Amino acid sequence: MSHTLVPEAQQATPPSPGALRACMSRFATGVTVVTFTGVDGPRGVTMNSFTAASADPPLVLISVARRARCHDTLIGGPFCVNILGAEQESLARLFAGATGLTEPRWAPGTRVPRLANPLAWVECEPWRSYDGGDHTLVLGRVTGLGHRDGDALTYAWSRFGTAVETAEGIEVLN
Ligand SMILES: Cc1cc2nc3c(=O)[nH]c(=O)nc-3n(C[C@H](O)[C@H](O)[C@H](O)COP(=O)(O)O)c2cc1C
Repeated sequence: MSHTLVPEAQQATPPSPGALRACMSRFATGVTVVTFTGVDGPRGVTMNSFTAASADPPLVLISVARRARCHDTLIGGPFCVNILGAEQESLARLFAGATGLTEPRWAPGTRVPRLANPLAWVECEPWRSYDGGDHTLVLGRVTGLGHRDGDALTYAWSRFGTAVETAEGIEVLN
């Protein structure tokens, strides 16, 4: 296996967007659709910059591109992070701007718009926002959540994939 070592002197200069993308694409993530109330009703945006941030208070983090049309509406109000199951790749594509896909189904009667039947969902009130360069980092305080069984949709190497549900989790290390 070969490794590309970047000399220290070179590391002081900002990386090119392509080099940064090449590194970050090797970080495998899940895939979410962040849903919220837009000017015309329920809206959603595909995001993989999602992480658990704090247990007490319960906080999660998303990173919203400043150039996204949803930016101003999303950062100021409640939102729901819908974690997608392996069979929901078309929702990830739809909410990333792909056309010609089936309209999404929404869960009925929710306070904050939510997709029908995500693998898991985390509803949030906006807690704090921070300058994240060309993104805004939004911490949300968790106000509701739920999950079901199933395989997870993943994203690595700029491709969608699957993480198979297993019976054993981190507890096998203890
Ligand atoms: C796998 C994947 C992950 C993405 N993650 C993010 C993200 O974390 N933050 C973000 O702002 N956009 C992310 N995007 C891009 C948005 O989904 C895309 O730009 C969307 O069309 C923005 O919608 P809008 O401009 O209509 O608001 C991601 C796209 C894909 C396919």
